[in-house]
Amino acid sequence: MQIVHQTNLPGRKSLGCLTFFFVQDELKLPPGVPEPLRDAMSRAFTLRVFTGKKDQSTVVLPAGGSAERLMLVGLGEGKDLNRELWRRAAGSAGKALASMNIAEAGVWLASPPGGRSKSPQGEDIAEGIMLGSYTFTTYKEKKKGKDKEEERELKRVTLFDPRKITTRDAVAKGVTRGEAVCLARTLGNHPANVMTPTRLAEEARAISKKRGLTCKVMEKKEMEAKGFGMLLGVSRGSRQPPKLITMEYRAAKPKGTLVFVGKGITFDSGGISLKPGQAMDEMKFDMCGAAAVLGAMDAIGTIKPPVNVIGIVPASENLPDGEATKPGDIHKSYSGMHVEILNTDAEGRLVVGDALAYGIERFKPDAVVDLATLTGACVIALGHYATGAITNNEAFQKNVVSAGEQSGDIVWPLPSFSEYEEGLKGKYGDLQNIASRDGGAITGGLFLKNFVGDVPWVHLDIAGTAWGVKRIGYIPNEGATGVGVRLLMDLASSWR
Ligand code: BES
Ligand code: MN
Ligand code: ZN
Repeated sequence: MQIVHQTNLPGRKSLGCLTFFFVQDELKLPPGVPEPLRDAMSRAFTLRVFTGKKDQSTVVLPAGGSAERLMLVGLGEGKDLNRELWRRAAGSAGKALASMNIAEAGVWLASPPGGRSKSPQGEDIAEGIMLGSYTFTTYKEKKKGKDKEEERELKRVTLFDPRKITTRDAVAKGVTRGEAVCLARTLGNHPANVMTPTRLAEEARAISKKRGLTCKVMEKKEMEAKGFGMLLGVSRGSRQPPKLITMEYRAAKPKGTLVFVGKGITFDSGGISLKPGQAMDEMKFDMCGAAAVLGAMDAIGTIKPPVNVIGIVPASENLPDGEATKPGDIHKSYSGMHVEILNTDAEGRLVVGDALAYGIERFKPDAVVDLATLTGACVIALGHYATGAITNNEAFQKNVVSAGEQSGDIVWPLPSFSEYEEGLKGKYGDLQNIASRDGGAITGGLFLKNFVGDVPWVHLDIAGTAWGVKRIGYIPNEGATGVGVRLLMDLASSWR
């Protein structure tokens, strides 16, 4: 899908739909809207078919003119309006446009009277529309044929900006953000028989090539030589070889180095500690941390932040097999610590732990963020709106939280008190991979702390936010959300 910014008015060619945004009860027609579109709109206002309240979107049919449909989208009260609400409203519009069976749509940009919002609407609207109109149809045969109605896909949305409210650059920024998030969603949505560790590595290579990043993929042999015992332990039960993917962005004048680690379990059956069957299919999403890192690296190659950024993805399947790791097995981690596996389903912390130790040793970063669909307990604690955070550095965590706030990827700190680490002490090894069930999102996160040393680090548990998030305008009703991409972009670009 393409988004175009244009400062002249819609031409004579008819659009499938032309979209307008309105602040609640401030329903003034923007100047320059031609008849008979004006007429259809003002009727919708006087009959109060449309009032502009939040989340309202109403389609009206003008009697001819340059649009087959008009869509009126409500922004809610002007005093509440902010960038996130713009993105959500644009997202709802995008969702509606994508389901209209039209190829071309338009959005009329106008300062909402009384809205007073000086928000750079172009970026937010472009981002919201990109995200809202996202669909994943790779495995749907297009319904084509004579007797069936032709299925049109939304190809282009033109932003009409006669009063130059925004700029081409702002729109391009929003598109970059939107595309990177959509890329992460698509990586997440592919089934596990397609999105294997090998495929994930291929995707990383392709992104790196396109954006001028360096990409290296470590194979099993080298992992064995270097002692990635936890990652190798997880992959033992799988016929798919594990991969350790590294993507490097180098800034021209770097203000430091950031490392982003994403959990890349392309399918998590639980291994020998097998999960129950219900909803096990959703464990194809267990690589959404990896997807966020790949999406962010894609955007970072474009926006070129003033800091080096290294993306690292430990990729593996977690399956049961005669060769699979068993409860009670002890593996030597990359860092040298021995870890007793008490539950093979707590595999994310093992692969992420090895990747963290490696990334910190190799790149000596100023700060590290890991993203992982780590625990079901985090979903119970926080539900599907906020991502949980664990840290060894409150000041850095503040940066991460505010990058989240700015971007829409909301983060909520979990208590990181070292008292919670007690249950992770090993009986036969240095550590064990689970504590009791209680506070599982916290102990899971704190397990990782053993592999980061003193480097400022934040762990983001995206188990609740990576898929299955409902009722937010720009988030799809189904499938992967692409959470984390925008947060990582904003963290990198605001680094100082
Ligand atoms: N990938 C899962 C976590 C998960 C579960 C995310 C459900 C989203 C929805 C992770 O590998 C896992 O299985 N964690 C275990 C840890 C437990 C064995 C300590 C869990 O949460 O049950
Ligand atoms: Mn698991
Ligand atoms: Zn997992």
